[in-house]
Amino acid sequence: MFTLDGKVAIITGGASGIGAATARLMASLGAQVVIADVNQAGSIARVAEIEAAGGTALAVETNVCDEAQIKHMVEMAVTTYGRLDILFNNAADLDIIGGDLDVTAQDLSNWELTMRTGLTGPMLGCKHGIPAMVKTGGGSIINTASVSGLFAEVYMTGYPVAKAGVAHLSRQVALQWGKQGIRCNAIAPGLTLSPAGLRMPEPMREMYVRHNMVPFVGLPEDIAPTVAFLASDMSRYLTGQCIQIDGGITGAIPIAADYRDFVAGLTAPPMSG
Ligand SMILES: NC(=O)c1ccc[n+]([C@@H]2O[C@H](COP(=O)([O-])OP(=O)(O)OC[C@H]3O[C@@H](n4cnc5c(N)ncnc54)[C@H](O)[C@@H]3O)[C@@H](O)[C@H]2O)c1
Repeated sequence: MFTLDGKVAIITGGASGIGAATARLMASLGAQVVIADVNQAGSIARVAEIEAAGGTALAVETNVCDEAQIKHMVEMAVTTYGRLDILFNNAADLDIIGGDLDVTAQDLSNWELTMRTGLTGPMLGCKHGIPAMVKTGGGSIINTASVSGLFAEVYMTGYPVAKAGVAHLSRQVALQWGKQGIRCNAIAPGLTLSPAGLRMPEPMREMYVRHNMVPFVGLPEDIAPTVAFLASDMSRYLTGQCIQIDGGITGAIPIAADYRDFVAGLTAPPMSG
């Protein structure tokens, strides 16, 4: 197993879901963790849980849309813990996803807020995090994209486009700063049963159970270990990638679930004449 001993990590959107699970795991692996979220009460509760488990954490109220607050978030990590090694740009405003419709129905303010939290936020994190990391020899940045950014969605438009940007931002940063010791990767979760994921109606969740290669839908705790690995020195040769953590849904031929149902109804192998 790998360790994050001696490392300092910032996790945006760390008050809930995937960010909270990752904060708990990173702290248990020895990292000192800064939880940066608009939901300061949630961050304080996560800090208390981590401290109760013997870890070290700090809550810094941060809106990732605001450059001054991102700068402050990085400064707080460095002044409190002395360095910055890991930045998990994970926050996104999933409360506005219901207003993200097809392109002809796009509401401009929803589109702009989606881009601002989902794509500008990670860019600002990189902008201010990288100089702090370089001072102590480099670090690892992980940005949360989504399978929605790799394959077209039926209803949403802004969210998938922002997530596609996150995957490419990660490659840009990896190339631009790799020689200075910065690694940068994206993760692309499939449906994950975070508080946000649980808001998806049950019939839609069942579609994921049907189309995932595994027989279930993942939890935030199924995403966190990959993030912790990407944050660790064990992944030192891994950069510029977008890692899909999605129960296999994007690896299957799109007709797989229908095909499986079709074959199940046959009395002889398909194509056997
Ligand atoms: N849950 C899924 O199915 C799924 C799938 C793919 C990708 N993702 C991505 O994973 C990430 C985490 O999502 P989650 O499912 O854990 O959701 P979540 O709602 O449980 O957590 C999101 C957190 O981000 C915070 N946040 C929202 N706007 C913010 C802002 N402007 N500044 C700072 N913090 C802000 C929220 O307060 C919340 O704590 C998001 O980037 C999301 O797009 C989620």
